[in-house]
Amino acid sequence: INTLLICGGGSSEHEVSLRTADFIEGQLAESEDIALMRVEMDASGCLTDKEGRVYHIFYDGKIRDEAGNAWDVDYVIPAIHGYPGETGDLQSQLEMFGIPYFGSAPEASKICFNKIKTKMWLSALGIDNTPYLFLHSLEAEELSKAHAALEEWEAVFIKASNQGSSVGCFKVSHKEDLEDAIAEAFTLSSYVLVEKALNARELEVAVYTYGEELIATHPGEVRAPADTFYTYKEKYAAGSRAETFIKAEGLSEEQLAWIQEVSIRTFKALKLKDLSRIDFFLTDEGELYLNEVNTFPGMTPNSMFPKMMQNHGHDFTEYLTGQIRSAVK
Ligand code: ADP
Ligand code: DAL
Ligand code: MG
Repeated sequence: INTLLICGGGSSEHEVSLRTADFIEGQLAESEDIALMRVEMDASGCLTDKEGRVYHIFYDGKIRDEAGNAWDVDYVIPAIHGYPGETGDLQSQLEMFGIPYFGSAPEASKICFNKIKTKMWLSALGIDNTPYLFLHSLEAEELSKAHAALEEWEAVFIKASNQGSSVGCFKVSHKEDLEDAIAEAFTLSSYVLVEKALNARELEVAVYTYGEELIATHPGEVRAPADTFYTYKEKYAAGSRAETFIKAEGLSEEQLAWIQEVSIRTFKALKLKDLSRIDFFLTDEGELYLNEVNTFPGMTPNSMFPKMMQNHGHDFTEYLTGQIRSAVK
């Protein structure tokens, strides 16, 4: 099965995607029936292999190098965080070419990669999520809404609506810092989210289809150091002080049941496919909120998705090869 692993992409998470691709490549290295070809996409959509050869994918379902050599593509793994993979744009092309691929379809990807759209869907589905408002511009009227929110909530998170890995995400506790954070977030997205800052535990659930089953694992937990939040640096940098726990301890039966039910309902209602990592907050007051849905979760050495799957008793290699074989059979 000729399987094309596309990584990189045009977003701020390009480097993270390369690490996710390293993991996936390693997982498929021993497979006898899956021939993996890895290409890195740059910001303009150009594909290059490790030797620097340039490729194009055509609507006939083949990938070609610049000398005109062609390979059939049976399956694609779009291992991209952010544009154009997690945003659904690449998947739209694959739909057009008729090539099966790992992960969610364009529509679900678009909903989940936009934090504001996700929250609108969650609210419509009656799924609790962090109190928020969103801004369309830096106009005075919009900024005054953000100031009122900061006054009410005492601290807020300002987030670019369409980034991941904590890029464009700022905690603001002082009103002097608010407008700079909003302006910075607007350099990355056309809408900006203002969220109530919570004092909360951060829980993550791997949600994936395994054969006919839809699995939501026991939640894992990430703990950022007390003086910051789970920033890009704490997620990936060598000196990260964040702690991860594959199994969050001390949750009540009721909390576990709520997280399980909401994870499964969200996966189904948003029509996700194959995999996702759904993240929650459990506040010090005991409220549970769904924070976000990641349609292509990170699979770096620090990332939780593969570990939670393993902890659930499912081997990632077996899982992925199974998904590929059943999609192309
Ligand atoms: P990303 O898609 O970039 O991961 P998140 O919404 O998950 O964006 O935010 C990144 C991190 O910021 C979270 O993991 C958490 O540490 C912190 N954070 C985000 N929103 C809140 C909030 N409302 N209250 C407290 N911490 C938050
Ligand atoms: N966006 C990163 C890769 C994650 O959520 O895992
Ligand atoms: Mg997150």
